[in-house]
Amino acid sequence: MYITEFSADGFRNLKQVSFQPDEKLNLIIGDNAQGKTNLLDAIWLMTGCKNFHGVKERHYLGFDAPFFQCSMHFFDGRRTQEIRYSLERGQQRKKQISVNHVENQKANTLFEIFHCVAFSPEDMELITGNPERRRSFMDLCACQLHPNRVQHVSRANLLLSERNASIQKALKHKIRNQDILLWDSQLAKTGAYLTLMRSEYIQSLAPLCERLYGIITGGNETLHISYKNALGLSEGQPVPSMDVLAEKYQNMLASHLEEDLRLGYTQRGIQRDDLLMTINGKPVQQFGSQGQKKSTALVLKLAQAHLYNQKLKRSPVVLLDDVMGELDERRQKFLYDTVSDMQVFITLCHASSLRLGQKAKIFQIQNGNLINI
Ligand SMILES: Nc1ncnc2c1ncn2[C@@H]1O[C@H](COP(=O)(O)OP(=O)(O)O)[C@@H](O)[C@H]1O
Ligand SMILES: [Mg+2]
Repeated sequence: MYITEFSADGFRNLKQVSFQPDEKLNLIIGDNAQGKTNLLDAIWLMTGCKNFHGVKERHYLGFDAPFFQCSMHFFDGRRTQEIRYSLERGQQRKKQISVNHVENQKANTLFEIFHCVAFSPEDMELITGNPERRRSFMDLCACQLHPNRVQHVSRANLLLSERNASIQKALKHKIRNQDILLWDSQLAKTGAYLTLMRSEYIQSLAPLCERLYGIITGGNETLHISYKNALGLSEGQPVPSMDVLAEKYQNMLASHLEEDLRLGYTQRGIQRDDLLMTINGKPVQQFGSQGQKKSTALVLKLAQAHLYNQKLKRSPVVLLDDVMGELDERRQKFLYDTVSDMQVFITLCHASSLRLGQKAKIFQIQNGNLINI
């Protein structure tokens, strides 16, 4: 898919920005703090994935703006669609999302129709950050492939906090210990669902990561990724049915109740899952160089883009924020080659630091305005 028209106004420092991107390669050029990242964030807003970024929508309102409004036309492989997204300042913070002129849509609708893969230096945290980053990466990616999964992710979080609240109540003798178990069968079901979802996603992603990492390193290094989970699912072994997993999950919760009561929260479960990554058999987090960590994060995102292509038969729009400028020419070429059949937006301080030998549309941004060059 590709964006044919985009405009944003009052979104952070962007003022009446409006442009028609190239179907393939677009460069957003500007000095620091001019609005390049803001522009990519405005595009990202259209995916409906804001919850996965942890940014509150009202923070997108320009400091002095009474509202923000973003709108976009994009071609999804079959037809052109339009999304409008606006938010007003004020107590009620009136928000309006419309899709193809149908008003009052939910962000989840966007989730189903417009797909992006974004990569920025912060994605290093996928490697160096805490496991929560990796869990939300797995969940977001898996949900983008099948949007109805979102409800299971929210439900799992909700059930877990209910169970933890019950543990706290039991500690204060407001309820019996046994009452905590009432949550367990529901939590076990969603927990089993999420385990299978994450497992299936990582199994599809792993071979793509391995292949792409092999290309980056000229075959000298092997990246392996696997899914660490509480239920002991492991690669190469037959995947049990949901019912079997749910039963196992419920037994695990019941048998650790005493421990949970001692700690004051639910110790085991999907909230402890992680993504394990090794290069030539050594964990990247502990032993990887900066370069290896950066390449690993990049490869995870590129593999994600390829998986969309494979599974949805539609390429996502690729947003590369601040990553090209610091790569050498070989890595720039590798990166671009892997996404060259997709629409790509690259932010940079200077167009000259990019050596792709590729025709591109160039947009320059200064103090939140697009300027002609
Ligand atoms: N809510 C906001 N309203 C107006 N300006 C904002 C808001 N949030 C951030 N900014 C401004 O946006 C600029 C940073 O834009 P950014 O897109 O991150 O720059 P860069 O071009 O370096 O990527 C800063 O000048 C910052 O003050
Ligand atoms: Mg930036």
